[in-house]
Amino acid sequence: MTDLHQRLEDLRDRGLYRRLRIVSGPQGPRIVLDGRPVLLLCSNNYLGLADHPRVREAAADAAMRWGAGAGASRLVSGTMRIHRALEKRLADFKNSDAAVLFGSGYLANQGVIGSLAREGEVVFSDELNHASIIDGCRLSRAKTFVYRHRDLEHLAWGLEEAGRRASLIVTDSVFSMDGAIAPLTGLAELARRHNVRLAVDEAHAVGCIGPGGRGAVHAAGLEGEVDVVIGTLGKALGSYGAYVTCGDDMARWLVNSARSLIFSTAPAPPSVAAALAALELLMDDDHAVERLQDNANVLRAALSDEGLDTADSSTHIIPLIVGDAQTTMDLCEMALEDGVFAQGIRPPTVAPGTSRLRLTVMSTHTAQELRGAAQILGRAARDAGLAPARLPHEDHGQPAVA
Ligand SMILES: Cc1ncc(COP(=O)(O)O)c(C=O)c1O
Repeated sequence: MTDLHQRLEDLRDRGLYRRLRIVSGPQGPRIVLDGRPVLLLCSNNYLGLADHPRVREAAADAAMRWGAGAGASRLVSGTMRIHRALEKRLADFKNSDAAVLFGSGYLANQGVIGSLAREGEVVFSDELNHASIIDGCRLSRAKTFVYRHRDLEHLAWGLEEAGRRASLIVTDSVFSMDGAIAPLTGLAELARRHNVRLAVDEAHAVGCIGPGGRGAVHAAGLEGEVDVVIGTLGKALGSYGAYVTCGDDMARWLVNSARSLIFSTAPAPPSVAAALAALELLMDDDHAVERLQDNANVLRAALSDEGLDTADSSTHIIPLIVGDAQTTMDLCEMALEDGVFAQGIRPPTVAPGTSRLRLTVMSTHTAQELRGAAQILGRAARDAGLAPARLPHEDHGQPAVA
């Protein structure tokens, strides 16, 4: 006997019920969603590479040359030449000694944290880190000290308290639901001072921030000072899978200890080839990051003209914080009626009371599309009975727990 039906009803009552919407055709700046054309304003396909002809061709060719799947874990028979080729290219791109591929960003965070923090040790994690980091901390069996969002003083206090048990600081570089950037220089200093490792998840930064899209660590001039940089192939690089860039010893340690690498099938060759092609396109395009940032500025300015508050965002991720979950979903549906898809994000993805529309721009949006979307969102916000001039921005961070 199961109470699942009751639980689903309960989610519905609290405005937290989720359903899958169906996209027909490839992921572009405009898509057909549940049968109707809409402007897509919530995809992580930031550079429009998921449906780029060269990327698609590379995936198709790889399927013919290497097959559809890798057939086994990297450590059994799954490491193929094409995996090595992408690892080499990623290490060159990031100016790092080594790169190690993982099945996804979620798996990479599980593997990295579990490999670097053990029972009896303490991991330090920003309160707004992505769920894959939170789950990685939990699975590692180390204690987790959750420091207040971007609060270096709180982190320093925690490090002092933990003393020699402190093992790892882990942070998103661009926070996935807020678009704010982590204080990487301060984090690196604290890591050095307290002799702990630093892992930075650049899932939303690679292709979007820093010189040539190399990420926020490069933008801060911290290459070589971060022990492990995690990146995904599934967002700006338009494919699927993930990687870690690090030193040689760290790479060999991950291959020997990261359970999500050891016990999971290697990335599929078409995804790997697609990522390789996307990386080449990024490296050949001097203006990709600029186009994305210009678009983010256009959307932020247009939202501000509508009286909408974009919180701490300084990047291509722009939250419109509403607060209540059901009101957020009502706003999402109203914008959708007018042809703009900006998904509502609710607990547990964000803290209770901070539900929001998470807007993301793509470099392939036009300025006109973005200005039109801002007007639609402004109208929807007014019609939803939210404050006429601006959306309320509540700050309900999760409590820090030791
Ligand atoms: C910061 C961060 N890290 C990791 C991931 C997971 O990456 P992937 O989608 O490749 O599993 C995400 C996905 O949303 C993310 O936002």
